[in-house]
Order: sequence, then structure tokens, then C-alpha cells
Amino acid sequence: MKLKDIVLEFLEKHRGEYLSGEQIAEQTGVSRAAVWKAIECLRKDGVNINGVKNKGYTIPLDENSLSAQGIEAILGKTQFDIHTEHTVTSTNTVLKELARNGEKSKYVLVACEQTEGRGRLGRSFYSPDSTGIYMSIILRPDINIEDSLFITTSAAVAVCRAIETVSDGKVSPQIKWVNDIFVDGKKVCGILTEASVDFESGKPEYAVLGIGVNIFPPKNDFPDDIKNTANSIFDSICGTNMRNRMAAEILRELEKMSGNYKSKDILEEYRKRSMLIGKEVYAVSQNQKTPCRVLSIDDNARLVVELENGKQKVLSSGEVSIKF
Ligand code: BTN
Repeated sequence: MKLKDIVLEFLEKHRGEYLSGEQIAEQTGVSRAAVWKAIECLRKDGVNINGVKNKGYTIPLDENSLSAQGIEAILGKTQFDIHTEHTVTSTNTVLKELARNGEKSKYVLVACEQTEGRGRLGRSFYSPDSTGIYMSIILRPDINIEDSLFITTSAAVAVCRAIETVSDGKVSPQIKWVNDIFVDGKKVCGILTEASVDFESGKPEYAVLGIGVNIFPPKNDFPDDIKNTANSIFDSICGTNMRNRMAAEILRELEKMSGNYKSKDILEEYRKRSMLIGKEVYAVSQNQKTPCRVLSIDDNARLVVELENGKQKVLSSGEVSIKF
């Protein structure tokens, strides 16, 4: 580990506490001059470190920066191998390449910004700088490929629980089948699971689970084309350490599920959090909009709808839009 990472880990573990150069040097086993250099380096990387004469250095509690050390300080002991980058094309694209080259399961990449963020059905995912988190995880799950939808449903439940934790229960997220999280009727999070199939075993060789969360409103608001449908968890930049906390809480929830994506309890929670059951919607596929009413989500996480002619249909992919 680089010295600056060791210093950052120490500062993150003691967020909000002033630590003297001497204390940091003692704990990290280097000279005070080296500590000073590391702090300068971290500041150049964009980490906000306060320095006060005769008190020392601290990362303020209300700082919303993102770092692997910051996430780990909250998460504690974890099986996830966490990495952060400021700007990437798409965390899913980067991790798919790593997975193809043999990177292990549970490798996590979290970015502050994506220049080519991707959504389902070939859409783009707006990923502006420093107001959200864009996170992907390599998984090597022991499930059949037909069941990979359960990775997405489990992740949706994990994100909802994490939003409730970081907002102290003040924000009530809902799931819009299959992969979107909504707050106050607008989307705050999208999930994209991409898998590569091993045709012999019929199981995924690897899956990359990608989660994008709008935590704060973008600095220049959402672009016009998504302004009416996109939202952020909080109305303004607030709170303490929100981006590290959000990433840590999502990972904590996923870790608790310990790969048991098909669990009945998780599916039951997914149903309870669904915003579609009982609603009049349009099932959208190949530019066709079919009006229907959502009856339930079945045990395979598919949407059961009733068409206008009274017949039932089961949807396993595609999209639904809510009728207003
Ligand atoms: C959707 O809304 O259809 C899914 C959006 C998924 C966005 C996340 S952000 C992290 C990861 N990297 C991507 O390019 N996409 C996913």
C-alpha cells in the first residue's frame, strides 16, 4: 500500500478528529516530513483535509468525498476488494474487461463520474461528477443463467435498505420492476447486471452487477430529457460522508445476503417494496405499448399482468411505464 493510502486510511478511521503530524507519523511508521508530503499528495488528489496549527489534520465529518479507505472505515471487515476512481467510462465496462481477464469475484469499483455510463436496453445512464456513486461488482455466482435476474432483484432490495439506513429512515424508496429504485415517483437508482455465459455448464462464467445512485442533485440539474423522471435521494448537498456511506451500506447489505440471491425472504421483500403491484401500466416492447394491470411478481421474479381482455401474461424482460 502506498504511504498516502496508509495516511488516508488512518484519517478516515478517525474522521472528524484532529490528529497531529506526530501522531500520524507514529501510527504509520514514517517521518513527519513524509506524512506532510502524503497529505499534500492527497489534497492534490482532491481529498479535503483540514489542517489547523497546534491541532493537526482531519477529514471533516461533512465531507462527501469517495475513497476505498473511507468505504472500508464504515464497512469494517469485508470480503469485498474495494477500489475507487475519479472518472471512468463505465464501471461495468471496466469490470467486464477485468472479469474476462480472470479478476476474482467481489472485486468492486466505485467511481465519482462516468463518461459513458450505460443503462438497460442500450440506454445511457447520466453519471455526473461527485453527486452520485457509480459502482460495479464482479460476481462469480453459482446459479443457472435463467436465475441471474435474481442478482438484480437482490441488489434492488439491498439499495432500498441502504437508502433507508443513510437517510435515517426519512426516505422511503420503492422498486419499479425490474431494476429501478424510485423516490417520490422519480428514479434515483438504476441497476444493470451483465453476465457472460459458460454454455457447457449453463451457468454465468461471471456477472458484473452495476449500480448507479443519484445521491444529491447534479450541480447543473438533470438534463432536460430526464428532468421529469429523474430524482436524487436528497434535495440538496447535505449530511455527512454520504457517498462513502451509501457505497458501504449497499455492500454491507449484499454481503449479508451472502450470494443467496434466490432467497424467498428477499423476493418477498422485493414484492413488498414494489411500486407496481395493483397499478395500471403499459407493457412496452418493440415500440408497442400494451395497457394492462399488474397483478403480482411470481416466484421467478417475473411480472404477472392482466390484459384488457382479461387474459393473464407473464413478463420476464422489457419495460413497463406507469399510466397516469
Ligand atoms: C438503468 O437505469 O437502466 C441501469 C443503470 C445502471 C447504471 C450503473 S452505474 C454503474 C454501472 N456502470 C454503468 O455503466 N452502468 C451501471
